[in-house]
Amino acid sequence: MQHTLKKLDEKRELARLGGGQKRIETQHKKGKLTARERLEILLDPNSFEEWDTFVEHRCRDFGMEKNKIPGDGVITGYGTIHGRAVFVFSQDFTVFGGSLSEAHAEKIVKVMDKAVQVGVPIIGLNDSGGARIQEGVESLAGYASVFQRNVLASGVIPQISVIMGPCAGGAVYSPAMTDFIFMVKNSSYMFVTGPDVVKTVTHETVTHEDLGGAVTHTTKSSVADLAFENDIETLLEIRRFFEFLPLSNREKPPIKETMDNPDRESISLDTLIPHNPSKGYNMKELIYKVVDEGDFFELQPDFASNIIIGFARMEGQTVGIIANQPLVLAGCLDIDSSRKAARFVRFCDCFNIPLITFVDVPGFLPGTTQELGGIIKHGAKLLFAFAEATVPKVTVITRKAYGGAYDVMSSKHLRGDVNFAWPSAEIAVMGPKGAVEIIFRNELDNKEKVEAYTEEYREKFANPLVAASRGYIDDIIMPHTTRARICRSLQMLKNKKLENPWKKHDNIPL
Ligand code: HXC
Repeated sequence: MQHTLKKLDEKRELARLGGGQKRIETQHKKGKLTARERLEILLDPNSFEEWDTFVEHRCRDFGMEKNKIPGDGVITGYGTIHGRAVFVFSQDFTVFGGSLSEAHAEKIVKVMDKAVQVGVPIIGLNDSGGARIQEGVESLAGYASVFQRNVLASGVIPQISVIMGPCAGGAVYSPAMTDFIFMVKNSSYMFVTGPDVVKTVTHETVTHEDLGGAVTHTTKSSVADLAFENDIETLLEIRRFFEFLPLSNREKPPIKETMDNPDRESISLDTLIPHNPSKGYNMKELIYKVVDEGDFFELQPDFASNIIIGFARMEGQTVGIIANQPLVLAGCLDIDSSRKAARFVRFCDCFNIPLITFVDVPGFLPGTTQELGGIIKHGAKLLFAFAEATVPKVTVITRKAYGGAYDVMSSKHLRGDVNFAWPSAEIAVMGPKGAVEIIFRNELDNKEKVEAYTEEYREKFANPLVAASRGYIDDIIMPHTTRARICRSLQMLKNKKLENPWKKHDNIPL
């Protein structure tokens, strides 16, 4: 017994040391924490229950039978974040470069399966050289078994990927299928083929950072949702982010106690809309003033910033915010913003998170780039996402809601539950100037007439009254009361039940 205990202690110590002190120092020199240090920051103190500490690889080639480290390059188990359960895996780059062996994959699969069974999110900290080269096809099989779990878990439990080192080749596809990807600047990268292969095949010279770094993926490719400065900031922000999420699709969103009065008025909102209808204003000001304690967790702020997405709370309950941003491309919908918002809307709908939509949209962005890039199909994604969503949907039109974009942005016609408009709302097929230029095409030389027609059109359509008279708008509200009106609507919608017809799954235009 004594002997067994001693052996156990030794093995545990070996597992704790991972690839050894020297490799730990190398990891630190790169500005990276070790897999265990990361879990210590991510999880509540003393909450981590580790599994499979003693798992070893089964490879017998290339001298690997003599080179075994308990745990085999990934630390797995469960713990809590702010007292709420979470499953985790954290790849240990100091052990065979965090590479994925058959045994390593089995450990990940085990926590994924359990997370789905018990209805708890999973967070993966990725830091890996990819497939364990010494193993070959077993490693590829391991990846595929993880991919399959990602797909089955999608929409059942939230899945979060954190890229904290290399993530290359087919390995990128597991994070790609999770709900959110966070990256660390300068120490993480994701690409299907690295700079050397790119150079050989396309003769392009590109750095790791430019090809697949955190800034690239949060500003250009939109693969990742957020980029942070270092490991510590990343992990602390994930702790904050986690508080917004329900544990599974069987749960309602969490409630966080708040002192913020639901009836709080923001008088300054009454002057948010500029007199000049072509002038922009910052939609984020509205969001910050309406949500609990001004706490808004924005996602993808540096990509397609003509639309804003993120989580906030109303009366303590998580909500998903989608808002046009008039400061960027006048708030137009385009390919990127439609894709960005559609995926977010679908996440919220999967996990019972109500949608709050703030609308100021002059339409879809015109141009050959958009048309040839498939704006028809991409714009349809957002339309589809809002239309299929059955969660509570509250919409506030602050100014423009023109054309097809009016329909798309969670309108009454797409089963919007409560649709408000500010008195400054203009709900029409298009803006007055554009309308007159089309209807009175033959009289455009007569400046006076054009002005008169424009004014007539503005008078008739550039207001919320026509839509309200049809019941498309439930009420025209004063801007300063927006928070109170949304809070009441959400209270009323608390037990909303709406089901779509049975289907195997839908066929969203991809
Ligand atoms: C086995 C690996 C490994 C791997 C790294 N190591 N990658 N061992 N399999 N895939 C080991 C190294 O031998 C080294 O061991 C240690 O990890 C650290 O690696 P270094 O090269 O010293 O680190 P660094 O300079 O930081 O470079 C990191 C790296 C590089 C860029 C990731 O290691 C690298 O290029 N690795 C190979 C990447 C690769 O081609 N993977 C397969 C991709 S294909 P020692 O003992 O010296 O510390 C793939 C397919 C997935 O993943 C398919 C899914 C469908």
